[in-house]
Amino acid sequence: MAAQTPTRETSDGREPITPVPAPRAQDPQRLSLGERLFSDRRLSHGNTHSCLSCHDIGSNGASANAHDTPEGRPAALNTPTVFNVSLNFRLNWEGSIRSLEEGIERSLNNPAIMASSLDEAVKKLRADPEMVNQFRAAYGQQPNAAAILDAIATFERSLVTPGSRFDRWLMGEAYAITPEELSGYQVFKSLGCITCHQGVNVGGNMFQRHGIFHPLGSREPVVLRVPSLRNVATTAPYFHDGSAATLSEAVKSMGVAQLDRVLTDQQISAIVAFLNTLTGTYRDQPVKPAVPRAGLGRP
Ligand code: HEC
Ligand code: HEC
Repeated sequence: MAAQTPTRETSDGREPITPVPAPRAQDPQRLSLGERLFSDRRLSHGNTHSCLSCHDIGSNGASANAHDTPEGRPAALNTPTVFNVSLNFRLNWEGSIRSLEEGIERSLNNPAIMASSLDEAVKKLRADPEMVNQFRAAYGQQPNAAAILDAIATFERSLVTPGSRFDRWLMGEAYAITPEELSGYQVFKSLGCITCHQGVNVGGNMFQRHGIFHPLGSREPVVLRVPSLRNVATTAPYFHDGSAATLSEAVKSMGVAQLDRVLTDQQISAIVAFLNTLTGTYRDQPVKPAVPRAGLGRP
């Protein structure tokens, strides 16, 4: 043996995953207007729910449901978290959306999401003198489509979750993760999970088929943007159709579907331990699982 093995390994600074950066400074008036719009039910056609109803930023940025059901109609796909969304190269499960603004407009128009439109939102907000004042203060204009999109996108850019134990380890804190968690990371790399789940969001930077070797949940859509695994321990259920109830079930299925490998119980628990270190903080509070509720994530 040439060198003594250190008791704890540190990151060598060349890992395929990089830390989530602190949120960039945003215009405070636009940010708070965006946050307000995010929880404004008038953005839905029937004034029944807001973005926050499905994307609960007080917990995991999503909901605990496999399929949220606005006005009784289930959304086709599981609700992804809005945390760290600005760090994904494309948006939505299929990665068909290229900007936050485009995504917001599509959410407004989608009959299974807000069933409304930018025009309808503009009309409702212009009828509210307090909103008119807030838009004038932030944009020097009364409520309009471009300002609505910009305000919500500004808020979405602030939804980053730095400070996970894994990121602290990446930045040189050798004791931020346990030996079991570190071995889970090594298994994650050696098995090849890292070929798809990598970069700052541990995913979110490429397209892949799902069920490459064996089927995984419902067949459609066939090609997906590889999801981010940031905060994944808090975002059950898993997969585009919400078909995996627990993280260990999801990890086991990934081995079979994407790598043609039956993982041992030990490999699964080590990977799950590693994935648990990817939980970050939002406004200095740890991201946590959403509370299960019928219908939408929040009233
Ligand atoms: C009924 C639940 C529901 C509501 C309400 C809702 N969303 Fe979503 N959101 C979803 C679902 C489901 C998807 C995935 C859609 C897809 O992939 O086709 C999604 C995707 C997203 C994404 C992309 C996430 C990613 O990982 O790429 C963002 C950003 C987003 N929504 C923001 C919003 C905003 C802003 C609003 C309010 C205008 C909103 N959502 C309202 C369910 C909801
Ligand atoms: C060939 C690319 C590829 C490889 C290799 C891969 N994944 Fe995935 N992973 C995906 C895709 C694509 C999805 C989305 C699947 C779906 O929703 O149907 C996904 C989804 C996941 C999810 C669920 C995320 C969520 O929010 O629903 C977890 C957890 C996960 N992968 C972990 C792993 C682990 C652990 C490994 C290694 C054992 C692995 N993946 C290997 C592409 C890959």
